[in-house]
Amino acid sequence: MERPQPDSMPQDLSEALKEATKEVHVQAENAEFMKNFQKGQVTRKGFKLVMASLYHIYVALEEQIERNKENPAYAPLYFPEELHRRAALERDMAFWYGPRWEDAIPYTQATRRYVRRLHEVGRKEPELLVAHAYTRYLGDLSGGQVLKKIAQKALDLPSSGEGVDFFTFPNVASATKFKQLYRSRMNTLEMTPEVRQRVIEEAKAAFLLNIQMLLPRRLPEGSPSRTFSPRRRSSDGSLPSALWWQRLPW
Ligand code: HEM
Repeated sequence: MERPQPDSMPQDLSEALKEATKEVHVQAENAEFMKNFQKGQVTRKGFKLVMASLYHIYVALEEQIERNKENPAYAPLYFPEELHRRAALERDMAFWYGPRWEDAIPYTQATRRYVRRLHEVGRKEPELLVAHAYTRYLGDLSGGQVLKKIAQKALDLPSSGEGVDFFTFPNVASATKFKQLYRSRMNTLEMTPEVRQRVIEEAKAAFLLNIQMLLPRRLPEGSPSRTFSPRRRSSDGSLPSALWWQRLPW
């Protein structure tokens, strides 16, 4: 029987996505916010800001998922009871920002960009929605419990789970088993090689959007800042962070 070559693209979409996003995943783990978070170094201010961004992101993601729940390009991945985070994030917003949270929560430029892309994909390229769902939900199922405990300890939160509902999936008994089911559903999606390649590129872009969302809030337009000068390159020749969007495929 023929076996794939070690360095060829894996056959299953789930394997291909994991392989293709390995490098950006390392970048995500090394994002300053995540590195500090893992050491228990997180402030209420920083945590609240990221949670608000996640709220905006999941509202957009889940709106587009609902729009496409019967589209064969997404339908096998439709698990609202198990996965959807909007209601949990609304409770978290009320905890962190109070009863008038809807008027109080911040909305950064990087988050707006991510939200814009989610709407574009859902409306115009729904075959790519799998890339965004994969990046968020499988990531959440992988790290959630650990991150929840770190946040509770670092921020001195009640053990009842208030403020960190986002990290709990009450309708997923085993994250490992659910991830296996999810991967097998991803592998049933029928797509041409061309679409498959675009899904892979979109997943890498989704990681970059997440990394950017985790960076410190961008300075207002026109602020003097050497860091954001477009002509500068880092010592390793890579693009400065202000040009991160040039690496996105769209
Ligand atoms: C502190 C930062 C992070 C740590 C320590 C971390 C750690 C992990 C671990 C241990 C896994 C499980 C691997 C496995 O089951 O084989 C995983 C999977 C995953 N993570 Fe992260 N992660 C981090 C940040 C992120 C971010 C920011 C994203 C994107 C938003 C992300 C997306 C994913 C995805 C999509 C998977 C599933 C990979 C697959 O099985 O295909 N992770 N992560």
